[in-house]
Amino acid sequence: MFKIRDVVIDPPLVLAPVAGHTDSLFRQAIKSLGGCGLVVSELVSTEGMTRNPGNADHLTHFEEMERPISIQIFGRDPVRMAESARMVEAMGADIIDINVGCPVKKVVRQGGGSNLLRDLPLLEKIFKAVRAATAKPLTVKIRSGWDRNTINAIEVLKLAEASGVEALTIHGRARCDMFSGRSDWSIIARVKRHARIPIIGNGDVLAPQDADRMFRETGVDGVMLGRGVLTNPWLIRQCWDYLNGTEVKQASLSDRAEFMTAFLRKVNDRLPPPVALGKMKKLGGCLSKGFPGSAHLRARLHSSSTADELFMALEEHFAGQLGAHGRRP
Ligand SMILES: Cc1cc2nc3c(=O)[nH]c(=O)nc-3n(C[C@H](O)[C@H](O)[C@H](O)COP(=O)(O)O)c2cc1C
Repeated sequence: MFKIRDVVIDPPLVLAPVAGHTDSLFRQAIKSLGGCGLVVSELVSTEGMTRNPGNADHLTHFEEMERPISIQIFGRDPVRMAESARMVEAMGADIIDINVGCPVKKVVRQGGGSNLLRDLPLLEKIFKAVRAATAKPLTVKIRSGWDRNTINAIEVLKLAEASGVEALTIHGRARCDMFSGRSDWSIIARVKRHARIPIIGNGDVLAPQDADRMFRETGVDGVMLGRGVLTNPWLIRQCWDYLNGTEVKQASLSDRAEFMTAFLRKVNDRLPPPVALGKMKKLGGCLSKGFPGSAHLRARLHSSSTADELFMALEEHFAGQLGAHGRRP
């Protein structure tokens, strides 16, 4: 375990913020499988939040069982960032996280996310404004730099520390990498060596052995996992079991059937029908990877035109597969 000021992160494994995926329902599902010491909300626009209070409620909503929870904000205007931090504090978040890593054009064009890696004077203003606005623990999530010639993670770390930021997550890709190539864990190790605050490492932890290797090779305090969890919700639990030397259980087909059906039912119950169907296809598409006949199931989910059709596809698929392969005792 490690601490971000008084917030205990135990186990030291963190569910990454993944926009469009890691909403409250998904985070609850992951927490209930065990092994996850901290969850982070999807990124929330401070422009949107401060101009139209209430519009971001679906992004900032969380349940008590998710705690400790960090809410992540992004933007470029120190005043709006500070105002948003006050709003997030009032919502009861345990930690406020600033996004300085998002590479997508929409965010970068507005001057936020990874764009701040190439405007450190503005980043410093943001850190200081947000720090002054909230008494809550403050963290930042960064990429290693804007491009290969401007890897500045250590400079950003020093700026963060001097501004009262209390932990830093680093994804070892630069903005120019988007999601190609590999996360460079050597820069994560270098940041950790220079840090006085806790460091969370991120990028390409797709198996329990990867988490173990990231801890050993970089010395980080915590490991954050994103895409691997979208296709294997048990991944964080499996990492924790592996780190503890206990048996790592693979999810059986019936575990997957149960998880997918129960989780997608909740999504369907909570959202208005057209939104629910789209979201179920997206989440179901990720969850239906890597098991017998999963490509066929994915195609059926995607071609469903109603929720009933989608659940029928799930039921028929798993009934057929489990009939053919037998249920695990
Ligand atoms: C579709 C998608 C959405 C993401 N949304 C966010 C986000 O809202 N905030 C953030 O800090 N990172 C976001 N990320 C980056 C992840 O948190 C993480 O840093 C990245 O995926 C690398 O970790 P991984 O290899 O474990 O997935 C997103 C990544 C993806 C693929």
